[in-house]
Amino acid sequence: MATHTVIAATQTAAPAAAPRFTHRGIAFGCDYNPEQWPRETWREDIALMTEAGVDLVAINIFGWAQLQSADGSFRFDDLDEIIELLHAAGIRVNLGTGTSSPPPWLTTRHPEILPMTADGTRRYPGGRQAWCPSSPVFRAAALELVEAVAARYGRHEAVALWHVSNEIGCHNAHCHCDVSTRAFREWLRDRYATIDALNQAWGTAFWSQRYSDWNEILTPRETLSTRNPGQMLDYRRFSSDALLDYYRAEAAVIRRHSDVPVTTNFMVTAHIDALDYATWAADMDVIANDHYLDHRLGDPHGELSFSADLVRGLAGGEPWLLMEHSTGAVNWQPVNPAKARGQMLRDTLVHVARGADAACFFQWRASLQGSEKYHSALLPHAGPDSAQWREVRELGAAVAALDEVQGSRVVAEAAVLFSWPSWWATDAENTPSSAVGYLDQVHAAHRALRDAGITADVVDPESDLTGYRLVVVPGLHVVTDAAAQRLRDAVDVGAHTLVTFFSGIVDEHDRVRPGGYPAPWRDLLGVRVEEFAPAMPGADVMLASGGRGRLWAERLVATDAMVADRFADGPAAGMPALTRRTGTGVAGDAWYLATLLEPGAYAMLVARIAEAAGVRQEPGAGRDVEIVRRRSDDGTTWRFVVNHGADAVGIAVDGIELITGATVTGTTEIPGGGVGVIREEARR
Ligand code: GAL
Repeated sequence: MATHTVIAATQTAAPAAAPRFTHRGIAFGCDYNPEQWPRETWREDIALMTEAGVDLVAINIFGWAQLQSADGSFRFDDLDEIIELLHAAGIRVNLGTGTSSPPPWLTTRHPEILPMTADGTRRYPGGRQAWCPSSPVFRAAALELVEAVAARYGRHEAVALWHVSNEIGCHNAHCHCDVSTRAFREWLRDRYATIDALNQAWGTAFWSQRYSDWNEILTPRETLSTRNPGQMLDYRRFSSDALLDYYRAEAAVIRRHSDVPVTTNFMVTAHIDALDYATWAADMDVIANDHYLDHRLGDPHGELSFSADLVRGLAGGEPWLLMEHSTGAVNWQPVNPAKARGQMLRDTLVHVARGADAACFFQWRASLQGSEKYHSALLPHAGPDSAQWREVRELGAAVAALDEVQGSRVVAEAAVLFSWPSWWATDAENTPSSAVGYLDQVHAAHRALRDAGITADVVDPESDLTGYRLVVVPGLHVVTDAAAQRLRDAVDVGAHTLVTFFSGIVDEHDRVRPGGYPAPWRDLLGVRVEEFAPAMPGADVMLASGGRGRLWAERLVATDAMVADRFADGPAAGMPALTRRTGTGVAGDAWYLATLLEPGAYAMLVARIAEAAGVRQEPGAGRDVEIVRRRSDDGTTWRFVVNHGADAVGIAVDGIELITGATVTGTTEIPGGGVGVIREEARR
């Protein structure tokens, strides 16, 4: 194995003028793993891809063991042939660097690259992604492969996009080996410069945790009691940065050989919180995401819409690529339901409605062997004579009919604030209520907006919010000074806001901001919370309005706000539950909600605030019906209607329905389970 100098992150960030991903229309594609199939299958694969309208295919995602032998030599003939076959069929290649999973010869020779869990045990190879993010040995070996792949295909016409590794950090984000520990110390030195500054930031006066030397610091390994929250938060940040540094090292090698855009597939999803993608987004030439419905959640489709809106937020409102989703069941949840007929189209359209310019799947042909043999694919085990395949062909035609939407942007007048540090800190050890999960709060707020027919961008709290009419801040626990100011600025210029409980409690080091919660927004909201009083599981609190509060109550004073509702019983009986600061000297209304409302009441509250804020609520949208608009620069608007329910819905719209090509005027019926994408001409 050749040795490479490890490339430092600072030298290798994305070029100033990043290449853009361009494609004719909305891309329709999949992961393709031809190495799992005999050669004879390849030609049939390509013919069927063509039949279905597949035009973007991700290959070489897990290619390392095929490409490089134990003696270090490379063999590219299969990959050459696949690329030529795809190219000849006019199918563009999303080329994996192949580094996602090291081959057994590498982990056998270098067991030190294997990751270590928090209990100090190594994880064995035999699955995937068995590598330590900070390992220079792994990085050198991986970059050698990237160098070979990029040099060979960097100028190949078929290559439309580079796909670095795969779902970076899906399994291996948190390593506790000695190499990672040393890298953590270096990261901390860069951040704090002195050990005193670190002691201050982490509050090590507590429990005799004061450090006198950098070498005393460990990653937060398993302890007998709970661990230091500041250390935990920094370790999360370090782990995310270590993998971003790794991404940059691969991207730098590719860029020496290719002008094609470089990206990797994010996992903006409910069950993976490893990476702070807000800090990754700027390094991507185009944002790409993988999304799978999670049936462990109470509301899988609510999470789908939320995820898509968050990915768009990461993309700064630009179109993004859905790199993977599934045609049917996955194989990694306790029970993996099949999709209902028509659901594949609905789910795909929700992503496109919310800004995706590519609809790709994992994977092309269902595997016969390996851990994923029961995972759905475009081409199922049953083969082309199957309802699944016929539906895939219909989907290919539907996606092609949407081509003109490509490049347009989603219209959103509202924003929901979201941050990974808030997720990490809220779901940490020793909080007031372990029943309060960050994502539950964020999903509930997003769902209330969706139910009220309001499209929201999900954005970073430190971004400019002054363009929004309504900013919802659900349980944003960690608030930096900069983020606190951003919300104040938006309200100053007229945005209305709704802030919910457990927001604005700690700074970026997880240190409580004193003087009454939420300290950075007390004046903005005109409230002062003196004490948390969470509800015991299942014990709702009644509100004076007759509604119910869930999970949470708190003892607060309305210092400069009207009380819109009160707790009628429970630990905060008689105290405000919902407040509104409005009137003289206040540009936008500032609402504060001290409990979690039931979905219907939450949507009504959001609708009421939105109305005052002048935010459009899509007529016809509701709990079962999603309506989202995309608009092009010339003012053409496409209205996406996705009806998840059983009943037809009438939508007043004039234009052309793209999938059927029908002209629609007056009230259009979208049947139960149906969809519509209606082009409305530019209003000039
Ligand atoms: C993703 C991954 C794919 C495949 C898929 C199954 O995590 O990138 O390789 O494993 O999930 O749902």
